[in-house]
Amino acid sequence: MEPTEEKKPRKSVRTRADAIKPFRCKHLVAVIEDPNDIKNIGTVLRNVNALGVEKAYIIDPRKSLPDDWQDMRERRSLSGPSVSAVKWTFVKRFDSTEECIAHLTSKGFVSVVTSPHVKGKTNVYLHEGDFTQYTKLAVWFGNEKRGISELAVEHCDMCVAIPMFGMIESLNLGTSSGIVLYEVTRQRREYQSQYRRRDQRGKRGTPLPTVMERRPDTAD
Ligand SMILES: C[S@@+](CC[C@H](N)C(=O)[O-])C[C@H]1O[C@@H](n2cnc3c(N)ncnc32)[C@H](O)[C@@H]1O
Repeated sequence: MEPTEEKKPRKSVRTRADAIKPFRCKHLVAVIEDPNDIKNIGTVLRNVNALGVEKAYIIDPRKSLPDDWQDMRERRSLSGPSVSAVKWTFVKRFDSTEECIAHLTSKGFVSVVTSPHVKGKTNVYLHEGDFTQYTKLAVWFGNEKRGISELAVEHCDMCVAIPMFGMIESLNLGTSSGIVLYEVTRQRREYQSQYRRRDQRGKRGTPLPTVMERRPDTAD
């Protein structure tokens, strides 16, 4: 049976999906470790989608999310705060930090954690970090109260901090993920625009654009 008109993706949706493809950051994963608040998960997913991060992993030991991505997409409590970004973002859940680390390691990913505090051996401020040195990169964000776990810190290559100048201890999870992922994706898009394949390091004759051309909105 022919799909009904309603079920076909709208032309504008298809056009947009094609247009954003070259700008997405390949082999870049945002990991949210044991988040408490579903609204924060939604905000991070919104940032992940908007900034062109390839995937989001959620470590969910309390099993507050469904395992299946399709079920996750239909969860109103997640779809609302993410303004439907969950529908357009690859999201995978894990029962534990150990399980997530094992998965990332098996796929050859290097992890960096984020924290307002000095953690582990190598600490950098966000603007000092080079996020293009890793072919496959996972950027971790910690729990709203406890922050990032010791296990994640032990496993990571470096700890990244957003400089702060106020009296408060930390930024909110959603806000910090937006700031960090903006800088990481900016650097990696710049790199992708100049080099053909990360492993071959072949420089392009003409760099690709790093931002999309903006046009006035047109009707569908
Ligand atoms: C509300 S904070 C957690 C605060 C917690 N008391 C701690 O010790 O980290 C939630 C998460 O946001 C990120 N975050 C918040 N402020 C940050 C900053 N200034 N630099 C880097 N990451 C930050 C970290 O991933 C952190 O685990």
